[in-house]
Amino acid sequence: MKPFYITTAIDYANGSPHLGHAYEKVLTDVIARFRRQLGDTVHFLTGTDEHGQKVQASARARGIAPQAFVDAVSQEFRDLLPRLDVRPDDFIRTTEPRHQRVVRDLLQRLYDQGEIYRAEYRGFYSTRQEQFLQEKDRNPDGTWPELFGEVTEITEANYFFRLRKHQDWLVAFLQSHEGYVFPAFRQSQVLEFLKEPLNDLCISRPRERLEWGIPLPFDDQYVTYVWFDALVNYYSAVVDRPGVWPADYHVIGKDILVPPHAVYWLIMLHAAGIELPKGIIAHGWWLQRGAKMSKSTGNALNPLDLVDQFGSDAFRYFLMREMNVGQDSDFTPEQFLVRYNSELANNLGNLVNRTLNMTTRFAGGAVPAAESAEEPETALRELWAQTGPDVVALGERFQFHTALERTMAFVTATNAYVERRAPWKLGKSADPADQARLRTSLATMAEALRLAVAAMQHVIPGTTAKVNAVLGHRPGAVWKDELVWGGRLAGNPVAPALVLFPRPEKPAAA
Ligand code: MSP
Repeated sequence: MKPFYITTAIDYANGSPHLGHAYEKVLTDVIARFRRQLGDTVHFLTGTDEHGQKVQASARARGIAPQAFVDAVSQEFRDLLPRLDVRPDDFIRTTEPRHQRVVRDLLQRLYDQGEIYRAEYRGFYSTRQEQFLQEKDRNPDGTWPELFGEVTEITEANYFFRLRKHQDWLVAFLQSHEGYVFPAFRQSQVLEFLKEPLNDLCISRPRERLEWGIPLPFDDQYVTYVWFDALVNYYSAVVDRPGVWPADYHVIGKDILVPPHAVYWLIMLHAAGIELPKGIIAHGWWLQRGAKMSKSTGNALNPLDLVDQFGSDAFRYFLMREMNVGQDSDFTPEQFLVRYNSELANNLGNLVNRTLNMTTRFAGGAVPAAESAEEPETALRELWAQTGPDVVALGERFQFHTALERTMAFVTATNAYVERRAPWKLGKSADPADQARLRTSLATMAEALRLAVAAMQHVIPGTTAKVNAVLGHRPGAVWKDELVWGGRLAGNPVAPALVLFPRPEKPAAA
């Protein structure tokens, strides 16, 4: 069976990781874990994008060699992954020989096929931004915006990739592959973009301007434009693993869908006769006070500090619960704390405490077998009968936020069930019917807890494992079976207590 192959964007190795990078890794990890739970073999790739002007400039500014610079930054991105409990199968760096070789082979192949040509280009060039400008970049009064610094008209020979030639093919492809880009409104945006004629893509930079890149195999006076290098990572990482390509999904941010992924990449592959990825997921942005997240600024809270304070599960839970994949979300530490306290500490944490505590007090620390179900049990089971399958269906459509909402609603209902059954009252009754109800209620809450954490396993794997352990439960190999209400816990010894989501310590009074 072909592995389910999923990738993240590779992060620019010119700054430290921030919430936006972390989110994309967590989202991809959640999808990867979800597919594994469904029985797929998964190959999950992430990595760093290490060439280009900005990296060269950052290294120079620090007075170190570009390679030493990217080694350090790439390591920072790599170190973030275990902190987030993100477990990729491979981490690719575009400075690795295994990648450079494939980029050069692909360039040579496209050049030999006549897909790449050399041409003179005359235009306005910004030295500061190291890019050619277009008329539309001018201020309304005809001057150039400050950010471009000195702008001069230059003529330069470069290599161009024939994008235009494949435009009609791309339009037809997208029109005949509904749902290729998730969410659907982004696919419409790609088609909208393709209504204008494409310019061929300049894929080279003269070496005298940019040293830090992969030399063109057919002209070593030039290096490869960074997108033509970076996009290839998805393919270069698996050329030596037969049967993994094509990717099932590239998970990327909305800013790099059009044109890099939806236009350059698809046309590059098509022109080279390589199979296309099966889909693209374009997620939205995390914003802080309405602005795109960037390197942490000044004394503003760095959202990634929350990982160390609250643990990876709480952080992953928040990201998946808060963001509707494809939309933007505003990040505030207040909102994080609200969800942490009300959903994890109070709702889920409370159910865990009660289950362990009452099983210890009223059943000698072993989960009883359920006896005859009455209306409260039946109602809770019915709720689960809808929730369980919905969690799977929602996950298949990347609706993790709704799946979590539904699962938490089930936890809320379970806590309400406990209030209603009041095992502490049943425990005082000598009536054998009440004693049976007590055993049934303890069995029911333990089973409901087991189901709830099973349903969130891909999001909060550490918590699921801990709860299973205190319930004496060893999950079976088939995840979907774990979502079926049963009597699997009967007889299991439980731990007396488990602190899952401790209350944050109050900041010391100033
Ligand atoms: N190096 C390119 C990608 C090459 S992929 C062949 C790049 N790097 S990046 O570091 O700028 O961004 C990496 C990923 O993080 C992108 O998918 C980008 O959309 C995502 N995010 C960066 N900031 C973000 C937010 N504030 N919110 C969510 N994700 C955003 O682009």
